Amino acid sequence: MANTDELHSGLVQLVTLALKAFVSFFPSDFEEIIDRWGQPGQPGQYLNHWPTDITGGVMPIPCHSHNDYWRPVPLFSALEAGCISVEADIWFFDDDLFVGHTTASLAPNRTLTSLYIDPLVQILEKQNPITRFHPTPGNPPNGVFDTKPSQSIVLLIDFKNKAADAWPYVISQLSPLRDRGYLTYFDGKNVTERPVTVVATGNAPFDLLTANDTYRDVFYDAPLERMMILDDNMDNTTPSDGNPPGDEDLHPDLSDLNTIRSRRRLLKRSPHEAEPPSSPDSPPSTAGNKKKKRPKDPSLYNTTNSYYASVSFRKSIEFPWQFGLSRNQMDRLRAQIRGAHKRGLKVRYWGIPSWPRGLRNYLWTVLVKEGVDMLNVDDLRSAASRDWAGWK
Ligand SMILES: *[C@@H]1O[C@H](CO)[C@@H](O)[C@H](O)[C@H]1NC(C)=O
Ligand SMILES: *[C@@H]1O[C@H](CO)[C@@H](O)[C@H](O)[C@H]1NC(C)=O
Ligand SMILES: *[C@@H]1O[C@H](CO)[C@@H](O)[C@H](O)[C@H]1NC(C)=O
Ligand SMILES: *[C@@H]1O[C@H](CO)[C@@H](O)[C@H](O)[C@H]1NC(C)=O
Repeated sequence: MANTDELHSGLVQLVTLALKAFVSFFPSDFEEIIDRWGQPGQPGQYLNHWPTDITGGVMPIPCHSHNDYWRPVPLFSALEAGCISVEADIWFFDDDLFVGHTTASLAPNRTLTSLYIDPLVQILEKQNPITRFHPTPGNPPNGVFDTKPSQSIVLLIDFKNKAADAWPYVISQLSPLRDRGYLTYFDGKNVTERPVTVVATGNAPFDLLTANDTYRDVFYDAPLERMMILDDNMDNTTPSDGNPPGDEDLHPDLSDLNTIRSRRRLLKRSPHEAEPPSSPDSPPSTAGNKKKKRPKDPSLYNTTNSYYASVSFRKSIEFPWQFGLSRNQMDRLRAQIRGAHKRGLKVRYWGIPSWPRGLRNYLWTVLVKEGVDMLNVDDLRSAASRDWAGWK
């Protein structure tokens, strides 16, 4: 919480930069490293090209990056831009966790461990060298950004299929980070921030996440649309108003988190009933990958179990058809932000309209001004390519 102001000024900076020149986000050194990454016959070799000072000139900014969509190098592309939040969509097959937007994009060597966990461990090992000048590990250890070692980076894990089955694998695969003290954790009383904060979204099972009362190092992506507070009185929470349109047909309660039952439902569900994607760049759900709803009761969520509160901007605030946000939309936006912040959670909107550019700029400016904590950089980047093409 202490660095909220700082992050917010970073967000203002991001928007200012974005409105000027996108090209400044992509220094050529990064391009070169990214281009070399994953070349045949060089598995993991790119890691050798990661100099300790790779993030030297990069100022962390509160943007969230869903990079696979853009480039084949998720984590590195995000760090290149200074993003402090990256997203990995995970699919559970054959006892392993594969990363990709669709099952068609999965490859045997693109796993949660190979794409995110191993690189993060390697980066952090380099940021926390044990030398005769620095004989013991720092407490807390340095984060990935040289310019701001105290900055934690969010690894947002989007559970796609078989979330309950995948859960123990996620917990286990985080061990290399956990064992080195790199994970933000809750000890039953307090949350201690560390270089990597893991947040679970998509179909992530809230019941499993909260099962242990004395230790957690994965936090939930709470439903922002449930957190509306119309004024400073907490009792004003209005979950029903917060329903995104079209969600009324599914009202699971907590018992829905029961694995067996939800699997049965999952099997019964026919493909054409597929839910809207969990994020703007998610693939459409396929049969057997039904989206599990986040428990509705807003009082379930606080900093002991959650980190973000997020929702689709399009679904929750809706498209600003009137060349700007209406009074009603502004009220909803403010109520959501107020509700999340009261619970100590960070506000993240995805699905922010990215075009036309003037509209996007207007929305970013409003969101930043109103206190949103994270901007989705995919929008920035896709908008960037579109803009540049238009310029030429
Ligand atoms: C990953 O596997 C694909 C084939 O599935 C191969 O073309 C590629 O070179 C491999 N990459 C690495 C880094 O091993
Ligand atoms: C942790 O929580 C306990 C109980 O709420 C509190 O007394 C203590 O000061 C906290 N420790 C830190 C380091 O914040
Ligand atoms: C909670 O997690 C901690 C650390 O992994 C473990 O020692 C403890 O036994 C767990 N408690 C329960 C109730 O599972
Ligand atoms: C956080 O929420 C849980 C319910 O999910 C509740 O049991 C717990 O008491 C809450 N903790 C705080 C500190 O508010």
